[in-house]
Amino acid sequence: MKVLAVLYNGFKAAKAEPRLLGTVENELGLRSFLESRGHEYIVTSSKDGPNSDFQKHIADADILITTPFHPGYLTRDLMNKAKNLKVCVTAGVGSDHIDLNAAVDNKLQVLEVTGSNVVSVAEQVLMSMLVLVRNFVPANEMVRRGDWNVADIAQNAFDLEGKTIGTIGAGRIGQRVLSRLQPFNPKELLYYDYNALAPETEKALTARRVDDVKDLVSQCDVVTINAPLHEGTRGLINKDMLKHFKPGSWLVNTARGAICEAEDVAAAVRSGQLRGYAGDVWNVQPAPKDHPWRSMVNPLGGGNGMTPHYSGTTLDAQIRYAEGTKEILENYFDGKPQEPANVIVGVGKYESSSYGQR
Ligand code: NAI
Repeated sequence: MKVLAVLYNGFKAAKAEPRLLGTVENELGLRSFLESRGHEYIVTSSKDGPNSDFQKHIADADILITTPFHPGYLTRDLMNKAKNLKVCVTAGVGSDHIDLNAAVDNKLQVLEVTGSNVVSVAEQVLMSMLVLVRNFVPANEMVRRGDWNVADIAQNAFDLEGKTIGTIGAGRIGQRVLSRLQPFNPKELLYYDYNALAPETEKALTARRVDDVKDLVSQCDVVTINAPLHEGTRGLINKDMLKHFKPGSWLVNTARGAICEAEDVAAAVRSGQLRGYAGDVWNVQPAPKDHPWRSMVNPLGGGNGMTPHYSGTTLDAQIRYAEGTKEILENYFDGKPQEPANVIVGVGKYESSSYGQR
């Protein structure tokens, strides 16, 4: 079989650090495994446009491996050209870069390494909240440029303790975020998810369910988004929704960039309607140099906690998603059943209930 992987370039770092498995250089550690079984393995970072390796090789690939960090966007049109393609494996979590409705129609399976990086992301969410609420970035920039003015930083620095914090989406990451927030003694923890948590889970997480997103954001000092990107979440946080946020609240989004309207969020930060926005996911990746989220700041010069998409690709996470990808491939080659939680789209239907209410 022909296995095509679209990964990100690691350059010097990947040569120096072999645990950077998710790079073109280190190939998810799959080459000898695949070749020993007689398969052809093509690995590339060239993914955009008709002349990209991705679009050329997809025409006769049997299996596609992608990551959300450097997504090969598999559109319905490309799927129609991919005559041999049977399985798409996401090395990581979040398969929205594959047109999932088209995958259902084309009887293409979409599998991911569920859970592989959920701790990594939950930790990033906590860090991002603290970075914003405590006004860390301007404080660090100040000392590094040789200045010292405590009041300039403290005028916009707060404690996380005593705040109302809510998550949109309370799946694997959302629940881990809630449990990690408990020791900070928040005023209240809230969540919105159409898949309600079991009463004992709500109790253990001391989290209260709110029926509606607007209701959630209007009560929160800090909002975090932990839901997949699908028809029901694309553009969810737009100009209208932002009007319902508490003035001066903070928003952390490590789920998917396209859940937020980029210009609307940037305008809200610049006006101070949002005191800050942090995340690592962008509506296009790599993000263009002039993307408004790179430069937006609040009226006091802070409130920007953006990073490149790396929260789910720590070295610890890379080992887990590389091993998980190998297991999925082994199951497929050997005709064994897949771990049910890894199946997002089975043959001709959604198996996951996380990608919208159907
Ligand atoms: P999960 O499937 O365990 O949980 C997702 C939850 O979101 C489900 O409970 C689902 O019902 C809920 N949901 C779906 N639509 C919703 C809506 N409209 N409103 C409220 N809740 C909704 O997924 P998990 O593992 O928690 O991951 C969530 C997402 O985080 C992934 O789909 C991916 O997009 C993102 N992610 C980002 C990473 C990064 O590196 N930044 C790494 C891993 C995941």
